[in-house]
Amino acid sequence: MKNTWRIGVAGLGTVGGGLVKFLTERPHFAPAGGTAVITAVSARDRSRQRDFDISGYEWFDDPVALASSPDVDIFVELIGGSEGPAKAAVETALRLGKPVVTANKALIAVHGRELAELAESVGAPLLFEAAVMGGTPAVKMLREAMVGDEVDAVAGILNGTCNYILTEMEQGSRPFAQVLAEAQRLGYAEADPTTDVGGFDAAHKISILAALAFGCAPHYAAAEVEGVDQVELLDIKLAGDLGYRIRLVASATRSADGVSVRVHPALAPIGHPLAETRGALNALFIEGRRIGRIFIQGPGAGSGPTAAAVAADISDVMTGARRPVFQAPAQSLQPFAKIDAAHNVGKAYLRLLVRDQPGVIAAVSETLAEVGVSIDSFLQKPVEDAGGVPIVLTTHATPEAAVLEAARRIAALPAVLAPPKMLRIARV
Ligand SMILES: NC(=O)c1ccc[n+]([C@@H]2O[C@H](COP(=O)([O-])OP(=O)(O)OC[C@H]3O[C@@H](n4cnc5c(N)ncnc54)[C@H](OP(=O)(O)O)[C@@H]3O)[C@@H](O)[C@H]2O)c1
Repeated sequence: MKNTWRIGVAGLGTVGGGLVKFLTERPHFAPAGGTAVITAVSARDRSRQRDFDISGYEWFDDPVALASSPDVDIFVELIGGSEGPAKAAVETALRLGKPVVTANKALIAVHGRELAELAESVGAPLLFEAAVMGGTPAVKMLREAMVGDEVDAVAGILNGTCNYILTEMEQGSRPFAQVLAEAQRLGYAEADPTTDVGGFDAAHKISILAALAFGCAPHYAAAEVEGVDQVELLDIKLAGDLGYRIRLVASATRSADGVSVRVHPALAPIGHPLAETRGALNALFIEGRRIGRIFIQGPGAGSGPTAAAVAADISDVMTGARRPVFQAPAQSLQPFAKIDAAHNVGKAYLRLLVRDQPGVIAAVSETLAEVGVSIDSFLQKPVEDAGGVPIVLTTHATPEAAVLEAARRIAALPAVLAPPKMLRIARV
């Protein structure tokens, strides 16, 4: 058994810095008897001020050179991005048969299958616990604990920035732009927030979870993605009046027809664990055919939690744990058949802005009936400065195509002042 495992760390930002601090605080981190020691690092700027000491490590300007150094036993990639230096360095390490640990969800969601094939062809582990839900062990749960069952669905809150924004909008009665600006000031949101608020980060993560859950290849391009940037304060308030909170829900469901992977804002009933997941927390439901429902909740980001997840993967390498990168050997993985979203059946929330005149509600009800959508609840509430009368209704479970058709027809009614806003109600 090896006594010392020499770790090369590429990327010294939030996660990489966290790992350096972790191994400095726990110099005897020795899960398999041997000790993990950082020996070499790489980042963009060697002279950058960092709140940890890197003077004892060999420095590499080029992460690919670090990955190929004969003095590195485990390569840890914490740069980020699906292409460029992160991908090149991971490929280099794997080609040399070196174990790779990464937190890079974009890389695994987009190139997971080809990297898994490469890793398995050389017998090197490729581990990415920190890529989904930061320190909360979602990947291990699906890759290891759930292999005895068949998973039919995974769904949850996978982006802490979006959840923080939605929670702040709800609790402070403040609009999206104002809360986003504050989140950026406080460092909870990136200067360019598109990846988070556009739903793409959550889509990377749910694509990885879908692959692990259903034994298929990650297929990021097949994910349907809507972010929180179009969520209005008015809808948060009206959903609250109806007994719901709005959350960005990422879900992957399997049926006989294929797999549906989606990220979109959805209403969850107040009191339900998704509705009660607040601030930057993440949460996940896993539905196993035999085990039933499992719920986990915890931090999805941050230096300490993600570093602990990276350390857990390093520990797995050291203990010699060997599993396929996803649920089955990579060569046998198929990209899943994608279900047309319009066929998804679920309840929906429709918010209309109408003129204050008689007959409007009858016209809306008739239009819904024409396309076979039945109303579950109905709320008409004067709202100051709304520019009309907001009407909100929720539907019984209906194919999404019918709800969208109803929204299109309602938009054309003379008394309707703006296209209806449609939000899905989470299947919980
Ligand atoms: N932040 C989180 O909480 C979190 C949670 C889960 C997963 N992740 C994932 O972890 C990875 C790292 O995220 P992070 O938040 O730690 O990012 P970050 O704070 O922006 O740090 C990125 C690091 O990569 C370095 N870097 C950038 N381009 C490079 C290049 N061409 N060559 C070498 N080094 C380069 C940067 O160098 P300089 O320091 O010199 O600029 C920096 O140290 C990403 O894949 C991210 O998605 C992050």
